[in-house]
Amino acid sequence: MAGEQPVDATAASMRGVNGYWRALDAEDIRRGEHRTMVGAMWDDIGRLQFEFLRAQGLEPQHRLLDVGCGALRGGVHFVRYLEPGHYCGLDANASLIEAGHHELALAGLADRGAALLADGNFDVAQFGQRFDMAIAVSLITHLYANHIQVCLARVAEVLAPGGRFYVTFFEAPHSAHLASLVQPPGEITTHYANDPFHQSFDELATLAARAGLDAELIGDFGHPRGQRMILFRAR
Ligand SMILES: C[S@@+](CC[C@H](N)C(=O)[O-])C[C@H]1O[C@@H](n2cnc3c(N)ncnc32)[C@H](O)[C@@H]1O
Repeated sequence: MAGEQPVDATAASMRGVNGYWRALDAEDIRRGEHRTMVGAMWDDIGRLQFEFLRAQGLEPQHRLLDVGCGALRGGVHFVRYLEPGHYCGLDANASLIEAGHHELALAGLADRGAALLADGNFDVAQFGQRFDMAIAVSLITHLYANHIQVCLARVAEVLAPGGRFYVTFFEAPHSAHLASLVQPPGEITTHYANDPFHQSFDELATLAARAGLDAELIGDFGHPRGQRMILFRAR
């Protein structure tokens, strides 16, 4: 149909917009380079996301989707806790997915049925599941708004009724905040139109509404670099 793009065009347009396209080889993964690549603080930020979702009511029988799961910094904790087969992780970088398998093996969790997909198009329907909860940690901080819109629309399609999508972001005090911001306490400088990005709550709530999701600001959740948490809820 005129004007319609093949699905892969979205993935191609996302490629190269952030720094996560380097392909790690087996030796890099053996050395643990993936832990640095996803932002380090491996233990702290891994455990933080797990404890946060536990406090939000995550239970072992829930089905969890981890969008931009990287090398499973949080995923290892979720896979250990959830019933086998209830964790699904998707990431654009296939080598980080490989590193995720490596981390699961290191933790003795290779047989827990985690489903991991390399996909840069947010095609989460491929898992063939409905999710009670979804999480994206340090993902949209690296995405342009139109890519966030794709992400929200595709995740909305796989959330169970009342399902919840928790997303970290760098907060701007108002919409279209063109000036850069220094985000306490990590002193990361964020931008309106460059990675790492900031958004206002209203900007994200507007994108969510277009995807049929309600937005609620949770705010500070103890992230060491000052990312805040927003909740998108399926109606
Ligand atoms: C800072 S890392 C965080 C990874 C993981 N959530 C964690 O807490 O360790 C950001 C991740 O987003 C992934 N990413 C970036 N663009 C993406 C896209 N378009 N689709 C899926 N994943 C993407 C990167 O490959 C990278 O693994």
